[in-house]
Amino acid sequence: MTSSPHLIDLPTIVRDDGDITVAENLPFDIKRVYWIHGTDEDSVRGSHAHKSLTQLIVPVAGSFLVRLDDGIKQRLWVLGDSTQGLLVPPMHWRTIDSFESGGIGWRSVCLVLCDQTFDESDYIRDYDQFLEAL
Ligand code: TYD
Repeated sequence: MTSSPHLIDLPTIVRDDGDITVAENLPFDIKRVYWIHGTDEDSVRGSHAHKSLTQLIVPVAGSFLVRLDDGIKQRLWVLGDSTQGLLVPPMHWRTIDSFESGGIGWRSVCLVLCDQTFDESDYIRDYDQFLEAL
């Protein structure tokens, strides 16, 4: 799929005893789910692009910054609302950092929904190669 990065509002059932947010009917079929946890304020994740993978990044706990670069334009996204996900299309260099880590036992959790299973050959891990591939 090709599109620009954008936020997707996830349907949320609000209740007095806690809310439920649902990831369904996304613009892609989910083939893989992973989550990044155990980070702290100094952690820097990502620093790569994907040739064909589309992802939805959801801050299910805490907050963090997602920096996206399409080779021409750089955009910074502040993610901290667990009812929204950031859709990241293929061929965007991404860096995730500034994970909120508010105290003992409290860490951000970055949930990532993907339209493909893991494939190392889909990664571009060198920035110059990324620019050449555009
Ligand atoms: P990577 O995607 O580079 O990490 P991040 O973007 O979160 O900083 O993955 C780190 C390592 O984990 C790398 O060796 C590949 C491996 N990995 C898997 O085996 N399966 C997966 O689904 C993911 C996301 C990573």
